[in-house]
Amino acid sequence: MSPIERPTPPVSGALVTGRAPDLGLPPETCLFERPLDPCILVIFGATGDLTAGKLIPALYHLFLRGGLPDPCFIVGCARTPLSRREFQERMAQAVQEAGWPPARWLDFSSFLHYLPLNYSDPADYLALGRFLENLEKERPGLGNRLFYLAVPPSQYPVVCRELGLAGLAAEKEGRWVRLVVEKPFGRDLASARELNQVLHASFEERQIFRIDHFMAKETVQNIIMLRFANAIFEPLWNRNFIDLVGILAAETVGVGRRGAFYEETGVLRDMFQNHMMHLLAVTAMEPPSLFEAERVRDEQLKVFRSLKPLSHPEFGEDLILGQYVRGRVEDREVPGYREEPQVRPDSLTPTFAALRVMVDNWRWRGVPFYVVSGKRLPVKMTRILIQFKEVPHSLFRNIHLGKIAPNRLILGIYPEEKITLTFETKNPGAVVCLRQVTMEFPYYADYRGPLLAAYEKGLMDVMQGDRMLFWRQDAVEECWSYFSPIIEGCERCPDLASRLHPYAAGTWGPEKAWPVLARLVG
Ligand code: BG6
Repeated sequence: MSPIERPTPPVSGALVTGRAPDLGLPPETCLFERPLDPCILVIFGATGDLTAGKLIPALYHLFLRGGLPDPCFIVGCARTPLSRREFQERMAQAVQEAGWPPARWLDFSSFLHYLPLNYSDPADYLALGRFLENLEKERPGLGNRLFYLAVPPSQYPVVCRELGLAGLAAEKEGRWVRLVVEKPFGRDLASARELNQVLHASFEERQIFRIDHFMAKETVQNIIMLRFANAIFEPLWNRNFIDLVGILAAETVGVGRRGAFYEETGVLRDMFQNHMMHLLAVTAMEPPSLFEAERVRDEQLKVFRSLKPLSHPEFGEDLILGQYVRGRVEDREVPGYREEPQVRPDSLTPTFAALRVMVDNWRWRGVPFYVVSGKRLPVKMTRILIQFKEVPHSLFRNIHLGKIAPNRLILGIYPEEKITLTFETKNPGAVVCLRQVTMEFPYYADYRGPLLAAYEKGLMDVMQGDRMLFWRQDAVEECWSYFSPIIEGCERCPDLASRLHPYAAGTWGPEKAWPVLARLVG
């Protein structure tokens, strides 16, 4: 039986839906706080999946909402020799697949340029410099430049070095130059430090934006507001009242065409060291004295510093790893991980992990944070569960035979972007008994302004120079200090094959993890 089929205490249909005033802000107020500086965005890796799947659709949607600076050019760079027209056609296809209306595509595509570039050839960077200067001459106001590394991480060092050597990283005459780096930021503590040195050889820290799209999800940003703009949560938000915290990111997708990347990464590097840790940070952090990027990131860093190392990194009860085998997801037969393209037939790469994290500080000592993520699970679902302690004494034991369920606050991130709180009430009527009800607030209730997908918000923030939703290097290193021993412990473990639990695609991961999942999903 999978956790979702487990019998759960009867929850009545009683539902209180949230109400929220629409503040009626003009749409542009919901997009940015001040006009964006004109700039040229250079995307390295312009023929890759990230550019087609996320970046160009995000930029096009921003354009449709009036959320791009004026003027703004986008220059795609990659090794493949393509003409500008061919690049525009590819991107038109990408935008169509993303489901955006093509109505204004021609206007947008006039901003798109393409320059073939060999990442290690200095001459090509000089050519890029001349190309940018020519574009800048075309439209007054240009001069700011944003370089986006959408290349595989192995290419980061060479691109950064060549940008630096070609003088393209230097900021001149009041113009800014920014660099966006995608996760993974290294593959362990040592390589994260090495990468940082490489970045810093050409760029200043203030120019570097380490992007993690989970940070920019609306409902994730909201957690800080919910916690710190209300007086009712903070007094309860600690070990005295909270029994456990669950953080779940379940996915239905497999690794698809990313087999080679995933073989080197696995679920702990791909999801935990970055996305899941950020969710943990916003849930566990102390209130900063001001909602300002460095102060917020300082508090998040302190959470990472408090993570208690696992006593038996090579598993024990704190870590359950799994790998999907052939099964059915969303009504179709799907291959097992080892049958995916570019995956070794005897691969021991985990595609699922359930980790019990302890945050060793005054607020959280003794409260387990169950952090779970996996591919090829039955549904795509991201949420944070705060489970409060049970009532200390049931005075209803004479009328209510079962245990009184603890209160649960669920911060839904996907697909249900809503906050729900379950609590007990008296069942109406003559027979005195309890029933559990749910009060919910759908995050977008009564909001009619523009919606921003995570990459759209991330791109806008880079253009605004707002660093709040980006990783700082010290936090990256703290997270690696926690995860490197775990990952290395697993990789060195002679027994890994028997500890990596197979699970059929379309089920809730290894059976061993079901008790935890039953709490998070049920
Ligand atoms: C990416 C991971 O960062 O996040 C992918 O590399 C994962 O493996 C994806 O599928 C999940 O993002 P989202 O926004 O779809 O939940």
